[in-house]
Amino acid sequence: MSDVTRRQIFAIGAASAASLATVVATASKSSANTQQPIAAATGEANPNGRFAGKVVLITGATSGIGEAAARAFAHEGAIVHFCGRRETLGNQVAQSIVASGGKATYQKADVRVEAELKAFVDTCVQKYGKLDIAFNNAGIDRPPMSLSETTTEVWDDIMNTNARGVFLAMKYQIPQMLKQQDGGNIVNTSSIGGHRAFPGISPYHASKFAVEAITKVAAKDYAKQNIRINAIAPGWVNTPMAQRAFRDWNLTPEQAAASYPIDRISTPEEQVRVVMFMCSPEASYMTGAVVSVDGGGWG
Ligand SMILES: NC(=O)c1ccc[n+]([C@@H]2O[C@H](COP(=O)([O-])OP(=O)(O)OC[C@H]3O[C@@H](n4cnc5c(N)ncnc54)[C@H](OP(=O)(O)O)[C@@H]3O)[C@@H](O)[C@H]2O)c1
Repeated sequence: MSDVTRRQIFAIGAASAASLATVVATASKSSANTQQPIAAATGEANPNGRFAGKVVLITGATSGIGEAAARAFAHEGAIVHFCGRRETLGNQVAQSIVASGGKATYQKADVRVEAELKAFVDTCVQKYGKLDIAFNNAGIDRPPMSLSETTTEVWDDIMNTNARGVFLAMKYQIPQMLKQQDGGNIVNTSSIGGHRAFPGISPYHASKFAVEAITKVAAKDYAKQNIRINAIAPGWVNTPMAQRAFRDWNLTPEQAAASYPIDRISTPEEQVRVVMFMCSPEASYMTGAVVSVDGGGWG
């Protein structure tokens, strides 16, 4: 594989953890770029923050971008209800948010299972009385393989998690938002792989292209009811998924960062800030948008 092809592949955003952290934290000294990475908000949650009183549902918040979103929304006063399959991790995340004065509950739910996703949405509404914001973020990738090597099991797992999971989430979230007659905000997690093609990961691309398509269609379906539906399309983000993917692709974090005009990959919080903007009144005229958050690399 040529270096160029390798760099293109690895730019999709899916490493030794220590050097990865260094790449995130340290913009190249030779660069004129002065953008500093956003770190997680620390300290006590602000009960009067900008999402005070809002009920936020997040799929896939046991780690990575979703976990950062759960922490950030709770820090800004929201009540967060989130899912993921890893129960121990989910409970730890919820407990640590509560310990810092935030409001968060974890529910074990697999987005591939319709009944579990429905129960996840229902439980949130039963517990907190409403649903204002949904961040449909759960997703998986797999090691690279050509299309003919891709098994139907891999295809189905990725499509069922990344695409069908987002469809099912919105299928149960939207009726609740309509019932409330007060609008709502939904953000889905795509990827730069949701609108560009790189070799070796056809099911991941197919799933993220689908996320962008259903985001745009649903936005049109529900615009008149004031439900805004948008998506982020991250490039590389420093999460467990990226760390696994770097190992799978035999890529160093430095090589990944080199693909980006901003000389580093993003922090989860840099993705979350865009999600929060999309869910805020500042984005009142934004719906059906897919925003690449990729350091200028591939949008
Ligand atoms: N990191 C990147 O470079 C990057 C780039 C572009 C897009 N993305 C997208 O960003 C999203 C978050 O990924 P991440 O980077 O934060 O990776 P991550 O740390 O691996 O987080 C993925 C989250 O999704 C959850 N999840 C996976 N399958 C699930 C299922 N069947 N049911 C419920 N939850 C499930 C995981 O929880 P459990 O394992 O506990 O179920 C975990 O909380 C994904 O959609 C990914 O495709 C990531």
